[in-house]
Amino acid sequence: MCPIAVLSDNGAMNSPDNIPAATLPSGARMPLIGFGTWKLRGHEARTAVLAALKTGYRHLDTATMYGNEAEVGQALRDSGLSRDQVFVTTKIRPADAGRARSVLNASLRALDTEYLDLWLVHWPPWRAGQSRRLWKDMIAFRDEGLIRDIGVSNYKFAEIDDLAKATGQTPAVNQIHWNPARYDAATLAGHADRGVAVEGYSPLKDTPLGDPVLSGIAEAHDVSTAQVVLRWHLEHDITVIPKSSQPERIAANLDLLGFSLTKDEVARIDGLAGH
Ligand SMILES: NC(=O)c1ccc[n+]([C@@H]2O[C@H](COP(=O)([O-])OP(=O)(O)OC[C@H]3O[C@@H](n4cnc5c(N)ncnc54)[C@H](OP(=O)(O)O)[C@@H]3O)[C@@H](O)[C@H]2O)c1
Repeated sequence: MCPIAVLSDNGAMNSPDNIPAATLPSGARMPLIGFGTWKLRGHEARTAVLAALKTGYRHLDTATMYGNEAEVGQALRDSGLSRDQVFVTTKIRPADAGRARSVLNASLRALDTEYLDLWLVHWPPWRAGQSRRLWKDMIAFRDEGLIRDIGVSNYKFAEIDDLAKATGQTPAVNQIHWNPARYDAATLAGHADRGVAVEGYSPLKDTPLGDPVLSGIAEAHDVSTAQVVLRWHLEHDITVIPKSSQPERIAANLDLLGFSLTKDEVARIDGLAGH
């Protein structure tokens, strides 16, 4: 297995302009490679997010639950990038459903921004009624201009369909646990049928990066197996948000545009599901 491969000498290939994106209902473009921030706290969070922005990430994923929105906001300021150059997602805990406006305001304050690009329900509220009420609030906040697009995380199709039926508004995104072992064509088709963009989380930590299928493909492209897994998401048009606290990995995880996988390679990785 190649350790950490950085493909581009001059970074041009990985220029933020070249990162593929999904178009959301607002017309906004969500970069298919984002930076995950779960478990990054305090100084480490600020440093890692700043490194990610300097490396070229233009999509950040945080959540109220991660306790790092202020550090993400600080890194955004320190980067010198303008707000509209970076796609910012945060999430509300279902336990906060009854006080959504104050939670949204607190997230906006902590992130030091006037709007969110994407606000997700972190996981489904226990009761369907509560889920619908929260979704209606989110629609209202979006219509006020506080959020560009709204979505969910960890939702099943029945839960998505319930929101769509109650309000006529389908979530723009479902952020779900996704990696080669979880590949399921029906899951992708079901989201596509509903017009819901799939965003995958925990792409690396539950993947055996020493797997011989991944190692063989990595060797053929002179990249790492982690890069193969991340590139596999892009081949399926799935947004991927790897987290790392290490500058070399932060850079390598974005360095996915100098190679592509063949159909056969994608199929072999798909075939790891259930193994
Ligand atoms: N919606 C949800 O319910 C939900 C749940 C989980 C996660 N998420 C989001 O998804 C993001 C990503 O998921 P995750 O943080 O759970 O897991 P992940 O990104 O799959 O894996 C992170 C782990 O992999 C290591 N790593 C990073 N790059 C690597 C590389 N190139 N080679 C080998 N190891 C590497 C990291 O260690 P180092 O830091 O030491 O590099 C860290 O231990 C989260 O940060 C969060 O933003 C959402």
